[in-house]
Amino acid sequence: MALKETKQLNLKRNERIDVDYIKGILQPTPTCATWDEIWNFQAKPDDLLISTYPKAGVTQANAMPSPRILKTHLPIQLLPPSFLEKGCKIIYVARNPKDNLVSYYHFHKMNAALPDPGTWEEYFEDFLEGKVCWGSWHDHVKGWWNAKDKYPILYLFYEDMKKHPKHEIRKIMKFMEKNLDEDALDKIIYHTSFDMMKKNPMANYTAIPGEIMDHSVSPFMRKGSVGDWKSYFTVAQNERFDEDYKKKMMGTTLTFCSSL
Ligand code: A3P
Repeated sequence: MALKETKQLNLKRNERIDVDYIKGILQPTPTCATWDEIWNFQAKPDDLLISTYPKAGVTQANAMPSPRILKTHLPIQLLPPSFLEKGCKIIYVARNPKDNLVSYYHFHKMNAALPDPGTWEEYFEDFLEGKVCWGSWHDHVKGWWNAKDKYPILYLFYEDMKKHPKHEIRKIMKFMEKNLDEDALDKIIYHTSFDMMKKNPMANYTAIPGEIMDHSVSPFMRKGSVGDWKSYFTVAQNERFDEDYKKKMMGTTLTFCSSL
């Protein structure tokens, strides 16, 4: 959910948002209430769309003139058609599902604009069943992966950005048909590091009222690491996850790295 919408939510302390389904995908009710407007959104050809499953690591400063940079968590089948019709460039960022799950669980806990996640065990099962807002992680990453050869979509991985930020930023520059000198690249790497963004009020969501995002429960910029899932998954959960993953991801060429 965009920062602006979250700020406008009028939730009382300890109150949680309701959810409902849009075409089979769970969504917070403010999204459902404005669905026609979202679906009919008119993209401009020079819009850049950043797309991710929630908690894949695309938080960034948002105040920008045209060309606009827009962000979505929608699965490809719910993307307003205008983006593809107008040929907008899209950057999709995917994160390994185990860290994504852990991050999303903590985000649910601190964010009243999402339903209460219940216990870790309950949330684990809901995530596997895709009974979470924006739907199944597996369908999300596969849907966008399958679309990437038909449309101008640059598909990136959180783990690659952590490991080789300069290389990944260069990929983005090439995709955007832009040139940046080394100095500018180094500045981007510096300002987009986890430690800098954690301190940056434009990126760390501390401007959101405490009734909505309670950073004392879990900070928005939590750990920003690869492999944190190992502190949460039990051996049995890990086995169950891998088994389920094999079935759901069968036949795809998409691969993930869950530790560096
Ligand atoms: P963790 O909860 O694992 O720390 P999003 O930005 O899509 O909401 O995703 C948030 C997740 O990405 C959080 O993960 C957050 O810490 C991580 N993240 C955001 N910016 C990051 C950065 N610059 N470097 C590393 N991780 C980052």
